[in-house]
Amino acid sequence: MSDQPRRPRKPAKPYRRPKKDPVRVLAFEALRAVDERDAYANLVLPPLLRKAREEGDFDTRDAALATELVYGTLRRQGTYDAVVAACVDRPLREVDPPVLDVLSLGAHQLLGTRIPTHAAVSASVELARVVLGDGRAKFVNAVLRKIAQHDLEGWLERVAPPYDEDPEDHLAVVHSHPRWVVSALWDSLGGGREGIEDLLRADNERPEVTLVARPGRATTAELLDEEAAVPGRWSPHAVRLAEGGEPGAIAAVAEGRAGVQDEGSQLVALALANAPVEGRDRMWLDGCAGPGGKAALLGALAAERGAVLLASEKQPHRAGLVARALAGNPGPYQVVAADGTRPPWRPGSFDRVLVDVPCTGLGALRRRPEARWRRRPEDLDGFAPLQRGLLRTALESVRVGGVVGYATCSPHLAETRAVVADLLKQFPDADLIDARPLLPGVPDLGEGPDVQLWPHVHGTDAMYLALIRRTG
Ligand SMILES: C[S@@+](CC[C@H](N)C(=O)[O-])C[C@H]1O[C@@H](n2cnc3c(N)ncnc32)[C@H](O)[C@@H]1O
Repeated sequence: MSDQPRRPRKPAKPYRRPKKDPVRVLAFEALRAVDERDAYANLVLPPLLRKAREEGDFDTRDAALATELVYGTLRRQGTYDAVVAACVDRPLREVDPPVLDVLSLGAHQLLGTRIPTHAAVSASVELARVVLGDGRAKFVNAVLRKIAQHDLEGWLERVAPPYDEDPEDHLAVVHSHPRWVVSALWDSLGGGREGIEDLLRADNERPEVTLVARPGRATTAELLDEEAAVPGRWSPHAVRLAEGGEPGAIAAVAEGRAGVQDEGSQLVALALANAPVEGRDRMWLDGCAGPGGKAALLGALAAERGAVLLASEKQPHRAGLVARALAGNPGPYQVVAADGTRPPWRPGSFDRVLVDVPCTGLGALRRRPEARWRRRPEDLDGFAPLQRGLLRTALESVRVGGVVGYATCSPHLAETRAVVADLLKQFPDADLIDARPLLPGVPDLGEGPDVQLWPHVHGTDAMYLALIRRTG
């Protein structure tokens, strides 16, 4: 993908809405919104699906197919761009973006699904006729017929450089990740080819839906009554929905007693809550709380211990989401909209502090299929001062003997260990504590004292956690 830059976006021409094949038209509309307006697939798709259902165009199977087409096409975009580039006689940047979207959708049906070849080609050509016009439909037809000459494996042999010549480029094309992301993930993961390939493969899988039963408000037993629900792997509060389903339709979720939360996020909150502190344990702070997933779990755990949670978030509208997540919390809490780098509270006020800092999100690529193509290495420079500033104030906010949890949903070393190492230099009276024993039963957490979770090892997002105690 990075070697075949797509053309700068320009608005698609209006097209007549077809009666036929609303699934592929909807998938195309979603891809255009992602491409043209920098929309997020997980935000753009639900309203489109809802509208299609209301118009009577869609049943559940249609919705599942449209979702798979959009997510699959976006995830595998790097691979499909390399294949399409091999089948057109000009650089990809000279192909109109809407045409490229139809070609990628077609490539995904041909190479990434079990849709029969003739159906994939004819449906894509029909889509092209409707949304691009007859002339460009001919071009789409010609390119897709070339793509249909090989299966995915055959294409990868042709378009990916040999592993021995350039391992990172090979993995980037085969597993559809930008090369710099492959490189960064590999630096953090270490090890040989097998581990990184497992991780990149896991990034291309649809993540399971995981629920959290917020302690004191819901039980896992209640959630396990749901169809195809199975216990979580690591968190005692987690329940997995093996068949996905609609979590919002579950009473405990609708009432806010339970929530949708990856087990990695649950483990971060649990490890911080279980870290030993010396003396008083009454004041807890979540310094980057929006939209409130970890705050809601921390609030429930704090309530069990008679502690108070202050949940702070810079963006007022996200602070509103935190307030919603915490509504009904069984113990005392407060939500404030505040800049965590210039906090309104006094230094040394808290016994436990979480800072789950803004980051590149490279650990959650399973959830945001377009994110890997939007991120740039330069983004790290943008986050670096903020991450350090937030950890600095977190360390100032905790009292001597208290604990800070520094978390990211990125395993990039520049956002994890480099930040922690820099701050430990500035705070000689702060020590890392071993987070691994605080996650009992969770294997392969690294050499410690910090922990790094991985999708291919733990089935969670790649969350990072360092626990730091102020000692003097
Ligand atoms: C990774 S998210 C936190 C996710 C949250 N802990 C959860 O589990 O739902 C980081 C949050 O930090 C907020 N943020 C960014 N800059 C901030 C600042 N200077 N002070 C406080 N919060 C900030 C962002 O708006 C975002 O909501």
